[in-house]
Amino acid sequence: MEEKLSSVAKTFTPSPIQELSHLAQRCNAINLAEGFPDFPAPPHIKNAAVSAINSDFNQYRHVQEICDHLAKIVKNMHGLDVNPLTDLAICCGQTEAFAAAVFAIIDQGDEVVLFDPSYETYEGCIAMAGGVPVFVALDPPHWTLDPNKLMKSITGRTKAIVLNSPQNPTGKVFTKDELEIIAGICCTRDCLAITDEVYEHITFDNEKHISLASFPGMQERTIITSSLSKTFSVTGWRVGWAIAPAFIASAIRNIHVKITDSAPAPFQEAALTALRSPPEYFESLRRDYEAKRDYIVKLLAGVGFKIQFKPQGSFFLFAEIPENCPLSDLEYVKEMIQQAGVVAVPGRGFFHTNLSLKRSSEVDHSYQKRYIRFAFCKSNATLAAAALKLLHAKGLKLHSIDKRDA
Ligand SMILES: Cc1ncc(COP(=O)(O)O)c(C=O)c1O
Repeated sequence: MEEKLSSVAKTFTPSPIQELSHLAQRCNAINLAEGFPDFPAPPHIKNAAVSAINSDFNQYRHVQEICDHLAKIVKNMHGLDVNPLTDLAICCGQTEAFAAAVFAIIDQGDEVVLFDPSYETYEGCIAMAGGVPVFVALDPPHWTLDPNKLMKSITGRTKAIVLNSPQNPTGKVFTKDELEIIAGICCTRDCLAITDEVYEHITFDNEKHISLASFPGMQERTIITSSLSKTFSVTGWRVGWAIAPAFIASAIRNIHVKITDSAPAPFQEAALTALRSPPEYFESLRRDYEAKRDYIVKLLAGVGFKIQFKPQGSFFLFAEIPENCPLSDLEYVKEMIQQAGVVAVPGRGFFHTNLSLKRSSEVDHSYQKRYIRFAFCKSNATLAAAALKLLHAKGLKLHSIDKRDA
């Protein structure tokens, strides 16, 4: 009966990462793999959710005040004029907002440009809509955008460019110059942009998140997607949104209604409280994550990882495995689980260019098997426990990796 599956469903096979998750569970490993916090959500928004449940917000619901408030936020942050009645759709997380956006604009055979490495979900979504993902490699070690590569990827069938900044998995925040290049190409080649801005409030040092929609000519061709998940440590609440020109936002709302109808009612109520959090909330989020970033960078550099690029945003560190280590990313993670009791994600799952480029033999893609993604959205106690284990393993058994290197 399996032949009855759609051809796209057949392409979605369990990834090697799932096998590692099982190994990690068996070894009771500390989890620096998954991109969600293991610490409590802020009390003020939990109280709002509890109160919404107690007030019987149990039915399908659209909380218009979320749109009203988001319109004010994007005006303050990016200077965008958004009509809260027409230009917004509340969805079940960024994931649904992105899927609905793709279904709203992609026809069979339309090409969609993605940067590589990138968050895994986009590719599958585009494929489900019949679109063709076209990957543009960012250049390691700083994940720089080469304008020529981007230019070359655009064809008469290019419908949209997807931009995730701050980026998962690298922690890159695209520079103003890079954003200008992307915006310029969108405008001159008449492409849309879908942005994923879920890490908009998590930037470090002097980096500031700039929305692609704020560049001249871009608001009319950009679909912004984001959510509560990362900013408020509530990835399970499933409240997100899309902000787009009215005709696209309306299409997204129509698709959203057909897929899920509405985001969870009590959590939409709590979203209002979340979005009204004072500036100090966002500042302390940034500070806390910056301290965690500094901690994990120092830790991993100390146990031999090569860290040429310090995350500028998000809560991921994409670390290169120790220089002379012959193991691949997958093998290294397996060793790390078994010897140190710590799990992270092999980087290869985030790379696609070697698959999508026909002439890939001309390009050296070996770097794609040398990165491991560590999530540092974990309590200080979890990070300290991981540190102890990694340092202990370095002294004892991970040493065997070093020996093999020699
Ligand atoms: C870049 C990026 N976008 C979106 C998501 C998921 O967002 P949401 O929980 O709002 O669906 C994640 C989660 O890891 C992510 O890293």
